[in-house]
Amino acid sequence: MRLDKYLADMGAGTRSEVKNLIKKGFVTVNETPCKNADQKVTESDQIAVRGMIISYISKEYYMLYKPAGVLSATRDKYEKTVLDLINTKKRKDLFPVGRLDKDTEGLLLITNDGDLAHSLLSPRKHIGKVYFVRLNGEITKEQIYLLETGIKLEDGVRTQPASLKVLNKNEGISEVEITIYEGKFHQVKRMFLSVGLEVIYLKRLSMGNLVLDETLRKGEYRVLTEKELADLKEITKERIKNGSDI
Ligand code: URA
Repeated sequence: MRLDKYLADMGAGTRSEVKNLIKKGFVTVNETPCKNADQKVTESDQIAVRGMIISYISKEYYMLYKPAGVLSATRDKYEKTVLDLINTKKRKDLFPVGRLDKDTEGLLLITNDGDLAHSLLSPRKHIGKVYFVRLNGEITKEQIYLLETGIKLEDGVRTQPASLKVLNKNEGISEVEITIYEGKFHQVKRMFLSVGLEVIYLKRLSMGNLVLDETLRKGEYRVLTEKELADLKEITKERIKNGSDI
């Protein structure tokens, strides 16, 4: 990649700021000053700015506890986005894996690994996402059956079977955990609405083996552990081995 891109990706400045640094001779490539912004470099070259070595970290993975009130987008002109909560301004290419509605809370993976994101979101991979749901109404066995076997949403699209666990049910409110294996627009809310129940609170608890770290406070994030990442990569690979992505 170009030297200016390498430095901008690593947060040494904006593309024009790093071009300036390069022009002024502050940047070395393998200990030799380089004034060419378009010089081709690789991750194995040693790049330094004012003598400080800047290593290239190619992939990053963060677990964010998304609070309500922020958009699952990379940037927005008017509203706060989940990326505004990630203050490692190191990379410009981070994005959220899938979308949670503005009023939904919980687990959101932020990365720049497009392949992993694609695998995790592909319905063919059948990766379960578990949500805690509070409903306005007391859920019945019939409603659970309909949701578990797959139902037609208001636009005629049929959902894949889901699984449900009722946690609480009283005084007109139900609390349930639902696991779904796809990610249609507003899917959980629309599924419950199609059986006559309104979602009044929604929180994502997990995605595959990745479980929301409840020691995080809303709006906080942390780097995935090596094990979390290895397990995530493993389940996306396994689905291929099992033939569900062929
Ligand atoms: N389903 C929804 O309806 N909303 C979300 O944010 C996530 C899943």
